[in-house]
Amino acid sequence: MKKTSLLFYSLILVFGLIASCSKNDLLTSSINNSNDNNIVADKAPVKLPTIAIIDPFAAVKIAFGNNIDPVNLLNYANQIKPNYINKDNARGNNITNPKATLGRVLFYDKNLSTTNTISCSSCHKQNFAFSDTALISNGVEGGLTVRHSMRLINTRFANESKFFWNERAITLEQQTTMPIQDHLEMGFSGLNGRGNMASLLSKLSKINYYKELFKFVYGDTIVTEPRLQETLAQFVRSIQSFDSKYDIGRAQVNNDNDPFLNFSVVENTGKRLFLTPPVFNQNGIRIAGGLGCNGCHNAPEFDIDPNSRNNGIIGIIGSTALELNDTRAPSLRDLTKTDGSLNSRMMHNGVFNSLRAVMGHYNNIPNNPRNTNLDGRLKPNNNGQQLNLTTEETDAVIAFMRTLSGTLVYTDKKWASPFVNQ
Ligand code: HEC
Ligand code: HEC
Repeated sequence: MKKTSLLFYSLILVFGLIASCSKNDLLTSSINNSNDNNIVADKAPVKLPTIAIIDPFAAVKIAFGNNIDPVNLLNYANQIKPNYINKDNARGNNITNPKATLGRVLFYDKNLSTTNTISCSSCHKQNFAFSDTALISNGVEGGLTVRHSMRLINTRFANESKFFWNERAITLEQQTTMPIQDHLEMGFSGLNGRGNMASLLSKLSKINYYKELFKFVYGDTIVTEPRLQETLAQFVRSIQSFDSKYDIGRAQVNNDNDPFLNFSVVENTGKRLFLTPPVFNQNGIRIAGGLGCNGCHNAPEFDIDPNSRNNGIIGIIGSTALELNDTRAPSLRDLTKTDGSLNSRMMHNGVFNSLRAVMGHYNNIPNNPRNTNLDGRLKPNNNGQQLNLTTEETDAVIAFMRTLSGTLVYTDKKWASPFVNQ
């Protein structure tokens, strides 16, 4: 594969050499030899225009070295997904290798911020399932995010097509250019004398590797917001994780309810508790059944039910006000690494730093009269649910959630920074 590209570039080099010889005898004589009727060859002193056949990816090579080979792109378009994964929110923006590659460059490019200091990857780190270990993330000029950063795992494989904790982005395409224009994040807000989206588009169109990449992907060098959205969304949707212990077990059985052959007894118990709805008494206390997690974090994608309302987490970081509209969660896959260590804090306000704390919350949902948007499933008979969990049940569900983590997504180069100087 590498050979093809080497050949390609050497051909370009050869052509380049011939072109640069246009003023001397070498070219004249070669034309003489190859084409006797050539008029130019008859008139010896005629000056040929210097045909500069230059490498169309010269700047790409300088910026990205071997990380991007336009002749042999990494595979984003035809990744294998398990046959039990059927949800898809791509809605016609189907992934192609050239566009996802351009999206990768944009995702890692600090030029997308006003100060050239922040890229998407500053807050969405591959090592941590594309979330941030910090409670809140640093944006430009001391800006801090209002909510905790979200993991970007399997965003494509979901029924929900709206994005952000409070679902304010109607599509992933729309979402992708919102952080760029956020005053606190990447800064192109047009406020306080800062540039806006138009300034960013003009800035990017002057960068040589974008000239080459846009030409390569779109046939011309024009940088537009819809193009940024299309390519960034393709890159984000390409980030998939299906090599977990759960996936190995799931592939061996017919459905999620069968005990998985590769699971421990505890993991299978946790799975059953996660999947099975609870039975409550009239006071909202669980007397039988499971924990009902699957009603909102639906297997096998573990994406959020689009009809979910809030789960009782209504706090705001650094404020006593309440936020009732956070009704989205990322897929529960890759909450931890396979060793069980947490990738980042959980919930929109990052309030939990352990799965045990999360279980503690669902065990006893506060019945806050000001929470007018608490999901009905979590307030049986109008009481905040009490799951009455035993330690064994808590441990089992935690063990099950840890089976949902893969390994490849943390290391695969196609989702890593393409820049040689980063
Ligand atoms: C300064 C930190 C920061 C930067 C830079 C940043 N993000 Fe985010 N991202 C966040 C935070 C925080 C959230 C959750 C915000 C919210 O819901 O209000 C988020 C949410 C998202 C989501 C929603 C995920 C979901 O499941 O709903 C996507 C997608 C995303 N970011 C992609 C990007 C892309 C693409 C870029 C670059 C163009 C980017 N982010 C730049 C911090 C950042
Ligand atoms: C009624 C729907 C619903 C049910 C049932 C539910 N959840 Fe959630 N869950 C949510 C919502 C909504 C969020 C996002 C909350 C936020 O941050 O504001 C969430 C967030 C989470 C998170 C944090 C995700 C992250 O990326 O930070 C975990 C972990 C989680 N839930 C586990 C569970 C478990 C385990 C159960 C069962 C005991 C469960 N959930 C039951 C709706 C639900």
